Amino acid sequence: MKYKQEDNQFNRYCVTTALPYANGPVHIGHLAGVYVPADVYVRYLRANDEDIVFIGGSDEHGVPITIKARKEGVTPQQIVDRYHNVIKKSFEDLGISFDIYSRTSSKIHHQTASEFFSKLYNSGKFIEQVSQQYYDEEAKAFLADRYITGTCPHCGNEKAYGDQCEACGSSLSPTELINPKSALSGNEPVLKETKHWYLPLNDYEDFMKQWILEGHKEWKTNVYGQCKSWIEQGLQPRAVTRDLDWGVKVPLPNAEGKVLYVWFDAPIGYISNTKELYPDDWQKWWKERDTKLVHFIGKDNIVFHCIIFPAMLQAEGSYILPESVPANEFLNLEGDKISTSRNWAVWLHEYLEDFKDKQDVLRYVLCANAPETKDNDFTWKDFQTRNNSELVAILGNFVNRTLVLTHKFFEGKVPQVPANTITPLEQEVTAEIAKFPQRIGLAIENYKFREALSEMMNLARIGNKYLTECEPWKMIKTDVERTAAVLNISLQICANLAILSEPFLPFTANKLTKMLNLPPLHWSDAGKTDIIKPNSPIEKPELLFEIIDDQAIEAQIAKLEATKQSNQLENASVEPQKPNISFEDFSKMDIRTATIIAAEKVAKTKKLLKLTVNTGIDTRTIVSGIAEYFEPEQIIGKQVSVLVNLEAKELKGITSQGMILMAENADGSLHFVSPCSQLINGAEIR
Ligand code: 2FM
Ligand code: ZN
Repeated sequence: MKYKQEDNQFNRYCVTTALPYANGPVHIGHLAGVYVPADVYVRYLRANDEDIVFIGGSDEHGVPITIKARKEGVTPQQIVDRYHNVIKKSFEDLGISFDIYSRTSSKIHHQTASEFFSKLYNSGKFIEQVSQQYYDEEAKAFLADRYITGTCPHCGNEKAYGDQCEACGSSLSPTELINPKSALSGNEPVLKETKHWYLPLNDYEDFMKQWILEGHKEWKTNVYGQCKSWIEQGLQPRAVTRDLDWGVKVPLPNAEGKVLYVWFDAPIGYISNTKELYPDDWQKWWKERDTKLVHFIGKDNIVFHCIIFPAMLQAEGSYILPESVPANEFLNLEGDKISTSRNWAVWLHEYLEDFKDKQDVLRYVLCANAPETKDNDFTWKDFQTRNNSELVAILGNFVNRTLVLTHKFFEGKVPQVPANTITPLEQEVTAEIAKFPQRIGLAIENYKFREALSEMMNLARIGNKYLTECEPWKMIKTDVERTAAVLNISLQICANLAILSEPFLPFTANKLTKMLNLPPLHWSDAGKTDIIKPNSPIEKPELLFEIIDDQAIEAQIAKLEATKQSNQLENASVEPQKPNISFEDFSKMDIRTATIIAAEKVAKTKKLLKLTVNTGIDTRTIVSGIAEYFEPEQIIGKQVSVLVNLEAKELKGITSQGMILMAENADGSLHFVSPCSQLINGAEIR
């Protein structure tokens, strides 16, 4: 059953989700943007008995993976093996119901991507172009943009990358960098000629105008808008190969050291994974015009899925094109952009450990907050409120009240609706229930998952309101027959909820189905008030959701706070190294261990302390600018390091003989440089 007329032309659905890079685990931003909405869509289609395949997998190529491997001193394969498994398992545990979750390092993918390239090459779809690229002569390798660092021509940041300066945000090309350095050897790279293959996107410009700008005006505004701006700026040829030793080898002679660009091979991964799942009839999912191809992605992937991949498919000639690309915007975390490198994220595998059996809570919150039309924010407080005031108070409460009352008044059996017990109120409620499958279904078919979820909750609200109005706990005393009718209808609402909540909350729907002893049901069974038959037994109710207390939330907030602090320390600017000095110069300094034996504030100053120190050589006075950080009594007895042969100096009328060595932390606080073990005073530091 399809509520959207346009969908009648399709007989099957091929639904894909962006293949996450296997260089880190999955976080809530990925989930809210891509995987939760996609899973809702797919589960809904399955409940409608649609013929559907749901494809996922890891994107295991590309430069960032090689950089991570180099940093850790392992191979790229080891990196992707590690994260592929972490990601796959966490998706499974969250109930993301892929039909296959494979990987682009698989043999079948290398073969498929390689054949795809060859077909385009053999039919003359590429142009060959020689360009100058940076080359590291010592490492004997061309350098990917990320492997070149240098000074940003815009802001002077000395650690800008060949593709971007992270300090000022400018996009760069490697040749713009001042003083470029290779990340492989540290040497200055040289420019060298290299040949690559380009897909002339400009040749597809008219096609794109027709296909997207004219033919897909119904695409989400954010998606359509990005495509329009790309197309109107004019499409340029894009290189589909790179000089790199990690990826799908370019299947041509004399192409040693060249691989397919990761964005060329990754989307072909959708096809390879379908092939792996259905070796005999994968083609129907990709080549039959009555298949609806839908790509779920985040907004940073729009151009690749709406323009570049379709151009590749079009060039190949035998494939269908995506019918829709419902890309989402980004989810922020507690007001800040989610960032893997800054560890500013809620990682799925950690959530699943910290919140056992609460998969649906996360699914619910992320769907309710999905960044469908604009960037959105996830906060732990909102997570708690949505759980406690919505899942527990509305959905859980309604189901629990209904089941408890059925056990209390009708021995746990669905009561029969006696004749003449149906009042206009029941008629109204029954008519309302009938509207929900279409309301929710249509919202899902239009990729409005937040609206769909909120409608599902409205059905539970109707149930609560109905119970509150009828008060069966009071009615039972005067009118058993009508109470039976009220509980029967309430149980029918529960059964409807078991069906209609399944795409969003599959674990809960499953529990509810079991408690109600329902057989497997379809979307078309919903909307009715005779789903659950009179006299059938109901299990003892188990709570569907539990209150999440402040302590659990505070622990998560504290975890983020710790991340913030360690980031601040890491990002603190560190003074550049001073010019080198000779060893002779260094040996002129006489640094010794010493103990502070007395300390007092210097009158009329904020910063100065007058210290008496035992240097092992003598007992002397040193005036030190540390009064803002230490109380005098706090530091008496502390062993420190002292430059003892510094010229004496008068400070506020006191002769200071030497200097206590201090280290300044990122926040400007001062700390003593002390030996790790107690030493004699006067031990030489050198
Ligand atoms: O942005 C990303 O995380 C990419 N790995 C998505 C690839 S989607 C597809 F093309 F495989
Ligand atoms: Zn800059």
